[in-house]
Amino acid sequence: MTMTGWLGREIMRLGTVASTNDEAMSRARAGAPHGTVVLADAQTAGKGRQGRSWFSPPGDNLYLSAILRLPLPPPAAPPITLAAGVAVCDTARRWAPGANLKWPNDVQTDSRKLAGILTETATRGDKLDVIVLGIGLNVNTRDFPPDLADIATSLRRARGGEPIDRDEVLVTLLGELERWIDRFAANGPAPVVRAWKERATTVGRRLRVTVDGRTLDGIAQD
Ligand code: BTN
Repeated sequence: MTMTGWLGREIMRLGTVASTNDEAMSRARAGAPHGTVVLADAQTAGKGRQGRSWFSPPGDNLYLSAILRLPLPPPAAPPITLAAGVAVCDTARRWAPGANLKWPNDVQTDSRKLAGILTETATRGDKLDVIVLGIGLNVNTRDFPPDLADIATSLRRARGGEPIDRDEVLVTLLGELERWIDRFAANGPAPVVRAWKERATTVGRRLRVTVDGRTLDGIAQD
């Protein structure tokens, strides 16, 4: 079904899981190869960044985690998350042309979050053993729970309510991900960072960030 070279040659399609990131990590530990994708219909304990949870109802959206085994030292891995941000943003733009990126790596449209990315790694000695790249993309959700109603959206909502074929979004996403990960592997972080900035709304804007409990105000320059 996919038209990719190495990503998603094997797709494990699951029903309801706790978290596709946890599934992917345990399958990676059991030897699942580079490029394996774990896809679930729903999650009961979908994980977001900073210990938050990820709204993961059945039937509507994409919840997936890719197992990546790249020959990188651990400090060189973070741009993978930016590459995924660019790939998700370009995927979203097919259905929601106004989609963009917001620091640190949210994909949004109409100032509401469409997708999130959670990267987890496991090391062996001082080497990176596996990167689990987890992506949640809201495709067809029409009504979000009250705590998310003002801050989340879906491709369907961005398109005025027309239902969207989840598999078509999946195929597009895997293609974009493979392209940007290959680009990162071949050319290093510079092209990825440039592409990320081109799609970002944050650069030049005033923003407030909280790091380790400290709040900083400023203008995002880079
Ligand atoms: C964020 O907080 O923005 C990151 C959200 C990441 C959610 C995805 S859904 C698929 C994968 N499995 C998880 O448990 N989390 C990620």
